[in-house]
This record gives sequence, C-alpha cells and structure tokens, in this order.
Amino acid sequence: MSTPRIAVLISGRGSNMMSLIEAAAVPGFPGEIACVISNRPEAHGLVRAQACNIPARAVDHTAFRDAAGKADRAGFDAALDAALEEERIDLVCLAGFMRLLTPAFTRKWAGRMINIHPALLPSFKGLHTHERALAEGVKIHGCTVHFVTPEMDVGPIIMQAAVPVLEGDDADTLGARVLAQEHVIYPAALRLVCEGRARIEGNVVRIDAFELATHALVVPPAG
Ligand code: GRF
Repeated sequence: MSTPRIAVLISGRGSNMMSLIEAAAVPGFPGEIACVISNRPEAHGLVRAQACNIPARAVDHTAFRDAAGKADRAGFDAALDAALEEERIDLVCLAGFMRLLTPAFTRKWAGRMINIHPALLPSFKGLHTHERALAEGVKIHGCTVHFVTPEMDVGPIIMQAAVPVLEGDDADTLGARVLAQEHVIYPAALRLVCEGRARIEGNVVRIDAFELATHALVVPPAG
C-alpha cells in the first residue's frame, strides 16, 4: 500500500496538529501530512502549518448558511469533502476541530477518520471536560484517540492515556497534564492506523504490538 495522505482538521492553536506534523516528519513515518484545513480562517494552527511547509487553508463554516441564516452543515461538509478529495486524502485526523460533522460525511470517511478527545471516553463526552472531571471528583482523567462515527465522541477506541488528578488542580493544570499525553498518544495512534495495525472489529479496535516511549499509563501497553 502506498503511504497514506493525511489531512489534519483544526479550529484553533493546533498543538495536536504540531505533534502529528513533527511525528510525520521523522523519516520512516508511515504517513504523510498532506494538508491542514481549518473551519476558522483566523486559526493560529494554519500559520504554524504553513511555517512547516504544509499546505494549509480555511474552509470557513460561517460562509455556509441557508436562506434563513441557519448553519448549512451539509453545504459546509460538502465543501470540506471536496477539499479532501482535491488533496487525494486517505486519512483524516480531527485535532481540536470544533465543528459537528453530518452523519453523511462521517459515514463516507468511516474507518478513515480519527479524533483526539481530552477525556477518558466514554466519560466526559463534549466540551469542558477538565472542569467536569474536577466537579465529579474523579481521581484519574486522561485522553482518548478513537475512530469517528456519526455520534459525537463515540466510536471505536484506539488508544488512551491516563493522568492523575492532583490535590489543588484547576482546569488549566489538569488540562496541561492531559494535553502532554495527547501529544504522545495521537502520533502513536496515527502510526498504528497508517500501518493497518489498528483493526476495527465491531465497536472495538484490536491492536498489534507496538513501541512507545512514555512513563504514563497508556493502554494498550507498548512492548
Ligand atoms: C485538545 O485538547 C483536543 O483534545 C480537543 O481540543 C484541544 C485542541 O487543542 N479536542 P490543540 O488545538 O490541538 O492545541
């Protein structure tokens, strides 16, 4: 199989995007970051991608409205899909992409689109995960890379990393601890998907052996 062409979809600062770009820049990585697309033209991640010589563009969701001024999600997704096809994309990585996708779009890219979520799914789907984890008093929090299905933050889980919730944590300190692990597991999970070693069986992902340098609790364990 030829090297998969990957699109990274962002909405903001793009730190996860950078972790993918940096991983893919290492010789031997089994995928190529072919483009970055943001639904927000002002996203700082676009500038960061361009600085790495990655083609980066915006597909501005605010340009897609119906006659009544309501968001035209199907129109936006069609434009996004056209951009992906134009770039001959094989695999899509959502990396802080803050836009709900239509079921038709997610079905088309099923098995070829992954997402990073800043919580241990299926706990804390949606937004403000760190605030909610603190409010619930959980002692372990973390992040998840999963295949995308039509329902938000649901879909076969590829990899998770856990972090402790420490006395005195606020959403910022806890979020920073989680983000550091996001930057570890997203490139690792992408590698597995590119190599065809993350196989979807029903709702579950079966993983073949892999290696990962980290002291965090990462499941599946490497080695
Ligand atoms: C990350 O925490 C990601 O998990 C969530 O949104 C945040 C995006 O951050 N979906 P960044 O743009 O990758 O820095």
